[in-house]
Amino acid sequence: MITGLNHIAIAVPDLDKAIERFMNDFGQTFDHKEDVASAKTSTAFFPIDKTSIELVHPLNGEGPIQKYIEKKGGGMHHLCFESDNIEEDIARLKTKGYEFLSDEPYIGAHNCKVIFIHPKSCDGVLIELSQPMD
Ligand code: CO
Repeated sequence: MITGLNHIAIAVPDLDKAIERFMNDFGQTFDHKEDVASAKTSTAFFPIDKTSIELVHPLNGEGPIQKYIEKKGGGMHHLCFESDNIEEDIARLKTKGYEFLSDEPYIGAHNCKVIFIHPKSCDGVLIELSQPMD
């Protein structure tokens, strides 16, 4: 079952500059920075009352965020729904014809099990499902 909006992600060409903007210009509390090798991204999280803004930046100049930034320069990248049983949600959505970017969920940022739904299944919006493992 999907239990809430976990975060919204913005692809950024300069991670440190974007972190400073969200801290100093927008007054948000910086939680942590994390390299996610499985997704080839560097991420930074700003929790805001039960959700977060996630800044995503290419890790080592490669991966899907690198391609996104080359194409668009940066921008709204994905939204993430929290799930309490990701396998069940994947199976349920597959029976409805949803396509996923990977066959199985994998471990993403801060030890969550994650998978992405193909944007063509959701009117062009990239949607992540995430189940915290703690
Ligand atoms: Co995300």
